[in-house]
Amino acid sequence: MSLLDVENLRVTFPVDGGPDVRAVDGVDIAVEPGEIHGLVGESGSGKSVTARSVMRLLDGAVVEADRFDYRGEDLYAKSEAEMRTIRGDDIGMVFQDSMSALNPVMTVGEQIAEVVRHHGDVDESAGLLSELRRKYVTGTSETAPSWRRAVELLETVGIADPADVATTYPHQLSGGQRQRVMIAQALGGDPSLIIADEPTTALDVTVEAGILDELRRLCDEMDVSILLITHDLGVVAETCDSVTVMYSGSVMERASTEQLFQHPAHPYTKGLLRSVPEGGATDGELTTIPGSAPEPTERPDGCPFRDRCPAAFEACADPLPEHVVDAGHATRCHLYTERDDPGEVAWDADADIDAGVTAVTDDSGEPSPTEVTDG
Ligand SMILES: Nc1ncnc2c1ncn2[C@@H]1O[C@H](COP(=O)(O)OP(=O)(O)OP(=O)(O)O)[C@@H](O)[C@H]1O
Ligand SMILES: [Mg+2]
Repeated sequence: MSLLDVENLRVTFPVDGGPDVRAVDGVDIAVEPGEIHGLVGESGSGKSVTARSVMRLLDGAVVEADRFDYRGEDLYAKSEAEMRTIRGDDIGMVFQDSMSALNPVMTVGEQIAEVVRHHGDVDESAGLLSELRRKYVTGTSETAPSWRRAVELLETVGIADPADVATTYPHQLSGGQRQRVMIAQALGGDPSLIIADEPTTALDVTVEAGILDELRRLCDEMDVSILLITHDLGVVAETCDSVTVMYSGSVMERASTEQLFQHPAHPYTKGLLRSVPEGGATDGELTTIPGSAPEPTERPDGCPFRDRCPAAFEACADPLPEHVVDAGHATRCHLYTERDDPGEVAWDADADIDAGVTAVTDDSGEPSPTEVTDG
């Protein structure tokens, strides 16, 4: 059984006086126990909205799904009180912006100890008043189990001098250290799943590599699954076991990391991979596909990628199909369901995309012109 199993997720933001924004439009996402699953896509593709829907942290949005199971139970059937326990106890979250996610007026040790007391297996509860006094006046005693656990967790995530660092405030730490503090905090409740939304985007590459190694180690050694959101395929190559590729609110492809890099199926994935040099290191940008993704309110019917796709043809205006390439590998592309041979995607036909006439290679290996119908 998948740890997280979401089918046909749709997230809509009602907009006063304008068309509603369908940020996520039929997404399937599954995270297996013990794996790091990557969720990759350009800016605006709906990665964060998908992640926040798992935490049920989308105020004002209409969230619908055919299935939304965590450990086999429907997350959207839980009460808000049950959800508060799940956030932190079962599912931890790490955000990109550590400066605004951490409390600036509490020591980092205090912030981790608080999670340990509320969600972990340490019981020091003594009522709201003493908790507030402890939080803002006296601080947690350094001999309290929750404090000792906080120091231990700082050590677990690779912080040197954890006992000293625990007594510092967020602004006294580097960006990389703060990111590690957030991971320690997420671990405080002993979760089964950590959702990390672009946890290393603001960091330089060496610091990023250290943190990704840390996530990999936590997954391997501490029985934590991770949903890792990134727009960097290099990060996926180095860190993830499997990956879901999103584009403008839809899933284009899902595969093991190996399948994705060795046998990409979707033209969008193939386009993204053009930007990843041998070895996987990238400058972190997915920019080599000409054009830009449509706003949610301006998506064409059918495949949202068809206006940028060099292989687009008439069928692409139809609803997205589902094609199983191999065990654990699926793509949503009409080339596979409508043609005997999907052919190669002629990415070097870039110049033709704007003209609406592009080339796909047919069986004979000769490029054949294909009209892209306007949506
Ligand atoms: N509260 C909101 N109200 C209206 N639209 C929203 C809201 N939140 C997100 N959106 C829209 O939903 C779409 C998906 O946004 P999301 O933040 O999930 O993208 P993302 O893939 O995380 O991008 P990035 O890589 O920039 O973080 C965007 O078009 C965004 O403008
Ligand atoms: Mg985001």
